[in-house]
Amino acid sequence: MNRIPELARGPVDLGSPVCLFEGDHAIYWVGSEEPSPFRCNAYLIVDGGNRILIDPGSTLHHFPQVRERVERIVPASSLTHVVVHHQDPDLCDSLPSWLELAPDLTIVTTPRVRVLLPYYGFPAEVSWLDVSPEDSTTLDLTNGSLVFITAPFLHFPEAFVTYDEVSGFLFSGDIGAAIEKEWSLVVTEWERHWQTMIPFHIFYMASNKALKGFLKKLDPFPIEAICPQHGSIIPKEHVERAIESLAALPCGLDLLYPASNIESVLAEIL
Ligand SMILES: [Fe+2]
Ligand SMILES: [Fe+2]
Repeated sequence: MNRIPELARGPVDLGSPVCLFEGDHAIYWVGSEEPSPFRCNAYLIVDGGNRILIDPGSTLHHFPQVRERVERIVPASSLTHVVVHHQDPDLCDSLPSWLELAPDLTIVTTPRVRVLLPYYGFPAEVSWLDVSPEDSTTLDLTNGSLVFITAPFLHFPEAFVTYDEVSGFLFSGDIGAAIEKEWSLVVTEWERHWQTMIPFHIFYMASNKALKGFLKKLDPFPIEAICPQHGSIIPKEHVERAIESLAALPCGLDLLYPASNIESVLAEIL
């Protein structure tokens, strides 16, 4: 059962893991509560024998809190997978610590992220599940599957997101993220939240073309919530507006190298 609408009504105890989806297929927010606008969300999916940690965070700022929260639900040594949506240190430089606790876990990521991760200090011979750039990779669980969808140049060439079939949650990495001083686990006022999403996407995302192309790929997936790595979770009632707003946002190269007049005219005609 999706608990996000109930959590939006608050108050939420952020000192503990927060159950976002209840049942045989359970999902928890296990992020940190650091006093920084760049705070990070990590998520844990528990489904039968599968224990999947998503975007575990950095060693320095997040690992102790995230580990403590995970261990209130399952032993860290029982983790079976860590999903790494891209290679930024805020998102995953804690990987060596997780591998020490659970050496047999499988890292789920794309090939171009995979080549970079061992630089954080672990052997390349760990277990990997390669996410295909063809968007054909899934991870079958006891209940439903996780579907991995690439998000080229948002903001890494082979970044990707994870769609959970059971809950309909989209774990979106930096896409849909916000940098905000005042923070709540779930978005309540869309317009105010959107203002905190704009600067992050303008600076980090490659272009509107990249955003639109990726968002189009989400059409077949009924999304019940967008769960980003930074900022508040976007509940179903705001998902459509979030997608529409992102699809209309000029960002990155659009702003750095604006189209010439003739290019703009041609783009409208063609
Ligand atoms: Fe990032
Ligand atoms: Fe990030």
